[in-house]
Amino acid sequence: SKSPVIAVDGPSGSGKGTLCQKLAQHLGWSLLDSGALYRLVGLAGVKHGIALDQEAPLTELARDLDVRFEPGAEGEPTAVILEGEDVSDVVRSESTGELASQVAVLPEVRKALLGRQRAFAQAPGLVADGRDMGTVVFTDADLKIFLTASAEERADRRYNQLINKGESVSLAALLEDIRARDKRDSERKVAPLKPADDAVIIDSSGLGIDDVFDRVLAVVRERG
Ligand code: C5P
Repeated sequence: SKSPVIAVDGPSGSGKGTLCQKLAQHLGWSLLDSGALYRLVGLAGVKHGIALDQEAPLTELARDLDVRFEPGAEGEPTAVILEGEDVSDVVRSESTGELASQVAVLPEVRKALLGRQRAFAQAPGLVADGRDMGTVVFTDADLKIFLTASAEERADRRYNQLINKGESVSLAALLEDIRARDKRDSERKVAPLKPADDAVIIDSSGLGIDDVFDRVLAVVRERG
């Protein structure tokens, strides 16, 4: 029988990443960070000197992507190893997010990553974090959450995250980036960012991560 999947979609900065980590940890399930896969294809593309609109070679890269996710010790983040190189820090940077967003518009690249993503659905269960988890990758997920928040609030959160990591950024530039990426993600032809018809929509504006987590847990329990 198939393992349960909770699909969590939404724009960057909605709190998805943190929510999914907490949820997976709480349930003892695995976690799929699908954004990391798009980020890795972008990084690998740049590393191999492939322009990020070159669908055929990028698709090949996506299919053969040599990547390992090594769970960190208690409380430590997962290490990401691309072609033998530790890219844990660079993979989460703003500029890598930009690369990801460029390769993510390519339909064949998305297709090449489908099987890799679906392979994460194993017992006892999976929390899948992305943009199209509920609409494309796991259409029969047991629960679909669409987590959103205003662009201003998402820019604020991202700003604080990056400052804490020691990256220097401007809030205005971040807000502009977020708006541009939202537009690109929601207007693209393949797998645009939108809630699945059967998604539970949660607006996290003004909510702390614990409030969001409690709300989602309540829905999980309700659904049994
Ligand atoms: O979630 P994250 O910020 O890591 O995603 C980076 C980019 O990858 C997104 O802006 C989006 O363009 C793309 N993405 C996607 N589909 C997913 C996950 C990420 O298109 N399931």
